[in-house]
Amino acid sequence: MKARQIVEEMDSYVPGRSQDEIAADFNLKKEDIIKLGSNENPWGPSPKAVKAITEELGTINRYPESQLHELVSEIADYSGVRDSQVIIGGDGADEIIDVLAKTFIDEGDEFIVPLPSYMYYEYLLKQYGAKPVYAKWDLNENRLDEDSIYDSITSKTKMIFLCTPNNPTGTLIDKEVLSEIASKNPEILIVIDEAYFEYSEVTNRDLINEYDNVFIIRTMSKVLGLAGMRIGYGLACEEIIEYMHRIKPVFSLTRLSFAAALNTFRDRDYIADSIERGIESRQYLYDETSKIDGLKVFPSKSNFMLINVKDTGFTASQLALELMKKGVIVRDCTSFKGLDEYWIRISICTLEEDKKFIGILKEVLS
Ligand SMILES: Cc1ncc(COP(=O)(O)O)c(C=O)c1O
Repeated sequence: MKARQIVEEMDSYVPGRSQDEIAADFNLKKEDIIKLGSNENPWGPSPKAVKAITEELGTINRYPESQLHELVSEIADYSGVRDSQVIIGGDGADEIIDVLAKTFIDEGDEFIVPLPSYMYYEYLLKQYGAKPVYAKWDLNENRLDEDSIYDSITSKTKMIFLCTPNNPTGTLIDKEVLSEIASKNPEILIVIDEAYFEYSEVTNRDLINEYDNVFIIRTMSKVLGLAGMRIGYGLACEEIIEYMHRIKPVFSLTRLSFAAALNTFRDRDYIADSIERGIESRQYLYDETSKIDGLKVFPSKSNFMLINVKDTGFTASQLALELMKKGVIVRDCTSFKGLDEYWIRISICTLEEDKKFIGILKEVLS
C-alpha cells in the first residue's frame, strides 16, 4: 500500500529523548536522570491543577466540553485580549500550528522560517503541500537577519514563522521588526511563536489589535508546567479565530486537560514562582557554563540556552552520548537545520540538578 507522495518522502520528527528511554538504554535509575533536553518546567505542575485533575477523574466517561468558554475567558484574562481572540488546542501549540496550516495553506504555498528555529513548523506544513523557504538568524551577532526575511518573500508566501524568544537561540525579536514585517505584508500571516514569552517578560500580543495578519502562538508546556497534558492556545483577530474554529477538532481537549489548564491559570502564585525560579536557574547555568573552556554559550531570554561545543574537541552527539551515560539528557541539535554538528541546547532544572549537571559536564570535558 502506497502512502500519499508527501508522506512517502517525509522523515519522522526527532523529539528530545525521555527519561524512561535513557534509563532503559543506559541501565540507569529514572529518578537519577537529569533532564535538560525538552525545555520543560522542572518543578512540577501547579498543586491546584493536580487536585482538579484528581477530582475530575470520575467523569471521564463523559465527552469533554467543546466550546471551552470558561477556559477561553481565563486565557483571555491572562493574555489581556478578548475572548473572541482566543483559540485552544488539545495537542499543545503543535495542534494550533496544525489548525493554522489546515485553515490557510493551499498546496504549493510557501512559508518562511529563519533557521535555526523550531523544526515542527516545517514538519507540519509540509504535510499540506507547502514549501519551506529558509531565512536566517545571524549566529555571529545572535539576532534575526531581517533582510533575509524580506529577501525570501515571493508571491507564493503565505506565512512567516517568527519565534521569540527563538528556540533554540533564546533570542528575542524586536517588536518594531515584527510590526514592520506585518505592516509591509498584509497578505501574509505573521505567526509569532511566544511559547517561552513568560521567561522574557515581553509579549507582542497587542499586535493582534493593530494587524489582522498577526497570529500569536502560546503553550502551557513550558512555564505553566503542563507539557504532559498537551494544551496550547493562539491569539489573533476575530476573523482568523472564527475560520480556525470551523475546522479545529471538536473534542481535542480532554476533561483532565481542561481542569488542569483552568486551575493553573487561576494559580498566579505558581506561575510567578515558576518564572522567578526559571530565570534564576537560567542565570546560574549561563554563568557556570560560560566559565568552562571550549564552550560558547548564547545568552538567553528563555528557559534554555544554546551552546557551541566545537572547541571542546567533541561533536554535539559525542558529548550528548557521554553525558547520557552519566544520566544527563541534553538536546543534541545536529538534526536542527541551520546548525552544524557542534551545538547542544540545555534547559533549566532545579538548582540542585543544575549543580549536579555542571559537575558532570566538567568531568566529561576534562
Ligand atoms: C517554539 C516552540 N513552539 C511550540 C512548541 C510546541 O509546544 P507544545 O508542547 O504546546 O506542543 C514548542 C515545544 O517545544 C516550541 O519550542
